[in-house]
Amino acid sequence: MVIIHASDLNLKENQELISSTIKKGGLCVFPTETVYGIGADATNDDAIKKIFLAKGRPSDNPLIVHLASKDDLVQCVSEIPALAHPLMDHFWPGPLTLVFKKKSSISYLATGGLETVGIRIPSSIIAKHVIEAAGVPLCAPSANISGRPSATLFTHVLEDFKDKVDLLIDGGKVTIGLESTVLDITTPIPVLLRPGAITKTMIEHVLNLSIIDATEDAITDVPKSPGMKYRHYAPHGELSLVRGEFHQVVHFFEQSLKQNHEIGIIAPHEYLLNLKGKHLISIGSMHDPNEMATNIFEALRTMDQHHVNIIYIPTLNDKDLGQAIMNRLIKAASHRIIDLDEGR
Ligand code: TXA
Ligand code: MG
Repeated sequence: MVIIHASDLNLKENQELISSTIKKGGLCVFPTETVYGIGADATNDDAIKKIFLAKGRPSDNPLIVHLASKDDLVQCVSEIPALAHPLMDHFWPGPLTLVFKKKSSISYLATGGLETVGIRIPSSIIAKHVIEAAGVPLCAPSANISGRPSATLFTHVLEDFKDKVDLLIDGGKVTIGLESTVLDITTPIPVLLRPGAITKTMIEHVLNLSIIDATEDAITDVPKSPGMKYRHYAPHGELSLVRGEFHQVVHFFEQSLKQNHEIGIIAPHEYLLNLKGKHLISIGSMHDPNEMATNIFEALRTMDQHHVNIIYIPTLNDKDLGQAIMNRLIKAASHRIIDLDEGR
């Protein structure tokens, strides 16, 4: 296992190492602007199998194919619908994955057996350099053991993949902290499959039409994206979300901490001001969703490092980026919500 620091990516020997590792079917963990990814040659079935094995990922959950430039799109997709163009122009490179009809050159192993393929061009310069050095499209799911919180720090990928991959690129903390928005554009009206930093409002603004939001359907319906049906982002401890008025929630936290000093609370700092406990983690200000987004997964992993058994998080504003934050939290909590308003 070799570690390359992102600042050394311009060295020829490191680019050659990335190229040779990927060409021989190896795995390379690298940072993107959203979360760390675990990459392999999207044209090599054996390499793709290794990703599923390393992550313990169900084989029907498709991988996103990462490209360095739009020019490579034609290698992967059989059709580019008209509305793809404004989306690509506005949001690529960036945290938007578009689902297209796949070309036969894209293996069913990568797409989980689907006729479609998710494509993303990261805006992270580090990711761009890695994909360019690899010289092939890279399949790259989030670099976490399946079901665990995604990795936003280099230490997280070491936790999950030390000695299990060939190459790791250390880029420090990622900038966004939540995985890309996934949008299916194979239907006449696009379908939002996973909310992210590119919000539904932003997409609708660019397309000048209302899109279908399938992200809430995941609980009861047949999942539209295979990734929706699996346990996700979960810390080891039992996580519950707490819903209610701000003061009710703070009161609930106070009372809970009095009964059990060992419980963990992850919250915007406004909630924590007067609380006393061993495991209180601030994710930033409740008025700054960007800051909260970057800190969520780290906070969940820190609770695990401290072996916290019971964790509470207040429900947060779910508008725009908040939708993506709440989507991850609801899954991390396996839909456990303590509703303080109930029965009122
Ligand atoms: O930000 C990201 O997207 C990160 C970084 C590394 O790029 N990657 C990532 O990959 O989050 P992963 O594998 O953890 O999540 C991919 C999601 C899954 O929910 C999967 O079901 C969905 O995208 N997806 C991929 N291809 C799809 C397809 N053809 N149709 C529907 N959903 C698809
Ligand atoms: Mg993932």
